[in-house]
Parts: sequence; structure tokens; C-alpha cells
Amino acid sequence: MSDWRGVDTGWGRRAVDFSTLSEPANCREYVTLHQHLAVGPGDRLLDIACGAGLAIELAALRGAVCAGIDASHRLVAVARDRSPDADVRVGDMHELPWPDGSFDVVTSFRGIWGTTPKAMTEVRRVLAPGGRVGLTVWGHLKVSPGAWALAPFRLAAEEKVSNQASMVALGRPGAGEELLAAYGFVDVRRIDVPFAWEFPDPETYARAIASTGPAFESIQNVGEAEFLASAAEMARAHQREGLPLRAEIAVVGYLARTPDPRSVNGEGSPPPRSST
Ligand SMILES: C[S@@+](CC[C@H](N)C(=O)[O-])C[C@H]1O[C@@H](n2cnc3c(N)ncnc32)[C@H](O)[C@@H]1O
Repeated sequence: MSDWRGVDTGWGRRAVDFSTLSEPANCREYVTLHQHLAVGPGDRLLDIACGAGLAIELAALRGAVCAGIDASHRLVAVARDRSPDADVRVGDMHELPWPDGSFDVVTSFRGIWGTTPKAMTEVRRVLAPGGRVGLTVWGHLKVSPGAWALAPFRLAAEEKVSNQASMVALGRPGAGEELLAAYGFVDVRRIDVPFAWEFPDPETYARAIASTGPAFESIQNVGEAEFLASAAEMARAHQREGLPLRAEIAVVGYLARTPDPRSVNGEGSPPPRSST
């Protein structure tokens, strides 16, 4: 993708708001995927489209040696501040700046979409034989009780909204399984991933959502003041006395691994890693 250098314009412009008001609620997703992938001491882990790097910080707490990459230099600055020992780089997921077989685990949280399948070639290349991959994407949004929280993204121009729709296609039944199999991954599994955004009030929700890339597409279309007012208005209908605003959204996780020639048929589990 030649336009990755433009990504920071939308994703980086409110990096502090994103990392403090929006990203922390994604922790349920990060913890779940790390647990399923059995991320542990000594794992060399790469997080693709790492954003402000909270997932990297959590993986390092499990003992992983972490790297990350994101197109937004302002989000990468936050990730580096949080994890000074991690190798976090600014760059394009379609051209990863690490040699073949550098990692035991690759994760990407809503970073690799149906519209960016070529990134899978790179995931495969940088994973060691038997390496584990875990990706998340939005699931069935229409049946998600918290889908209202994504509605302000539809204030973008029609063509941008339709691109957003193709991006979420990877969450459809069979889509991710097919993609991973097409790129030579084995032991492909689909899981439901818990995901809930929480906010103290409609105005904080509006400010949090305004810090994201797709919100920027809406802001370009309707202006920031109207975006913030519309988003807060949408949220007001979901306020509950004495409780946070809570938006539960369906997220799908895909787990797989690269074939391991050391196993009997090249597809099974690699030998257990030594704990010493
Ligand atoms: C939905 S956000 C997810 C961020 C992070 N994984 C999280 O959980 O908050 C998508 C991220 O993809 C990054 N991104 C978009 N295009 C990219 C590209 N071509 N290469 C690397 N990162 C990219 C954006 O900067 C943004 O941080």
C-alpha cells in the first residue's frame, strides 16, 4: 500500500486521547488473545498495527520479548514511551522490516482487514516454523448491542463508509479461515473475543471515538463540532443511572500457526518449548 504514510493524519492526530480514552477498554481483547496464544516468557512477539502499544505492554508483562509496527509515528511515540525496551517501529505492515523467521508469535488487533490480505504474506514470512498467529476483526456488528458506538463512523462520505464495510468482511463466517489457509497457515481456529468499550459520559465517549482513524473520515465530511455533537447525542440514548456507558461489540479472533517441518505431518504442534 503506497498510502501508508498518510495514515498518521487520521490515526495520529489525537494520539493522547486515543491512548488514554479509547485503547484501554480494548484490554479484554488483548488479554484473551494472549491467553489463547499462550504468550509466555521468552516468546519473541510482534504486534502488527500496534497503535499506542497497550497490547505490547501487556504481552511484555507475560514475559514476551516484544516488537511492534504501526504507520502512525505519533501512536508509535506513545508505544515507545510505554515500553522503552520493545522494538517498536514506524512502517507499513505490507513490508515488515524484520528478517524471515524472527518471531514465535504475531498478533494484530483489528489491524489486518479483508482489504489488506497481502499483509498475511509478511506475517507468514516473519514467523518461525510452528509460530503462532492471532488476529482480531470486528464480528457481526448488526447484532452487537454496542453497535451504536460505531455509528458515528457512518457520517463519513459514502465511498469511505463502503470501504469500512469491506474492511469488516473478514469477520464473516469462513472468511478469516479461508484467508489464513490460503496463506499456508494450519490449525486455523475461530474464537469469540470479549470486547466492551466503557465511558463515564456521552461527551467523553464522543472525544474518545473522535480520536480514531475512521472518525477522522467522518470529521472531514461533517466537521469536528458536528461530529462531536452527533456522537454525544447518539450515546445519550444509552446512558444508565449509576453505570458506565457500555458498548459490547462482537469481535472475532482467528488463531493459527505456520507449518512445522519438525512435526510428524508438518501440521501438528511443535515440540513444547523448554521453560528454562
Ligand atoms: C483499528 S486501529 C488498531 C490499533 C491497535 N491494534 C489497537 O488495538 O488499538 C488500526 C491501526 O492500524 C494502523 N495502520 C493502518 N494502516 C497501516 C499500515 N499499512 N501499516 C501499519 N499500520 C497501519 C493505524 O495507524 C492504527 O493504529
